[in-house]
Amino acid sequence: MESFRNFIPQITVQSPGRINFIGEHTDYNMGFVLPTAIDRKIIFKLRKNNSKKNCYVYSANYDTGFSFDLSEISISVKEWENYILGVIHEIQQLTDKLRGFDCVLSSDIPVGSGISSSAALECGLAFGLNELFELGLSNLTIVELSQRAEHNYVGTKCGIMDQYASVLSKKDHVILLDCKSVKHEFIPLKIEPYKVLLLNTNVSHSLASSEYNKRREECEKGVRIIQQVYHQVKSLRDVDEKMLAEFRGTLGETIYRRCNYIVEEKSRVLQAVEALKEKRLKDFGTLMYATHEGLTKEYEVSCPELDFLVEFSKKYKTIIGSRMMGGGFGGCTINLIHESAVEEFIEKASTAYFKKFSIKLDALEANPSGGTSILNDQ
Ligand code: GLA
Repeated sequence: MESFRNFIPQITVQSPGRINFIGEHTDYNMGFVLPTAIDRKIIFKLRKNNSKKNCYVYSANYDTGFSFDLSEISISVKEWENYILGVIHEIQQLTDKLRGFDCVLSSDIPVGSGISSSAALECGLAFGLNELFELGLSNLTIVELSQRAEHNYVGTKCGIMDQYASVLSKKDHVILLDCKSVKHEFIPLKIEPYKVLLLNTNVSHSLASSEYNKRREECEKGVRIIQQVYHQVKSLRDVDEKMLAEFRGTLGETIYRRCNYIVEEKSRVLQAVEALKEKRLKDFGTLMYATHEGLTKEYEVSCPELDFLVEFSKKYKTIIGSRMMGGGFGGCTINLIHESAVEEFIEKASTAYFKKFSIKLDALEANPSGGTSILNDQ
């Protein structure tokens, strides 16, 4: 294929990464989440190549590409290819209108940082192909097929949050998503004089995917036990603190702690939304700290690097909330920090983090942005 620079696309799509203020690991338990897309994105340049079934996808970041035949889609040994192939496979379950295409992609979302470069990749491709071949898929269908691609081709049994936020976000708002009804409310994000600062630990422990699926199974096991008595319970969404307390002995210590975190986190999200609406930002931040505590101690998806950064933030009055974000075992912390303190804090945290782990810390300010869209400036 000709070089990236000479590639003339028919359409260009941008698909963003996301942050999540609160509501972690609640999506696959049918609870609430509070994410939004940010100004870090993958750009897709796409064109039809007039073949029936030959496709080529090239990543400018990695200077690598691969070709495939639309009539022979199957799981690859290379993980990144599976995000692409998974989306193609899922689109093919819905329509036979796909034809040969070429795609060049470039990204400024750090990979493995918990900002969901995977959802951006899946959703941007699905969105772009939907436009290019006029497939007639709705945004929600794009979200859901991208989630299935991750389940079936990548093997992570993720919830719906990342894909939903990547596609459906609205600038300067957060999405209160009810993962049971799959309905959302946009809430204006008014946090001045605070900013959202992400600190990337630059670690991504290999446990991430296997432990993620294990947490999901543990929650499902909890539900199955509770269901034996309360038949109406379909997920942890339907369980409250009182009901859970009845099963403390039966569930066993580990499953109980997993379920207890989820039950508490569900109500924390709703409390945080009230705090945001009433501009009680300190209360909002306190709830973020409580989430971190639960993720570390009860859900056990944090790691020493994330815990260190959250603890470190507590020394600064200018930081009102901090916690690990995303699936866990590495990636970023999300911090609510006074705008006047950003620079100094980054410097102090980077020095302390390097001293402790000999790893470079990356900081990035995240600005809420709109969801996946076509770029007009070509
Ligand atoms: C990952 C998954 C999401 C969600 C978060 C944890 O980002 O893709 O579905 O479960 O972890 O909240």
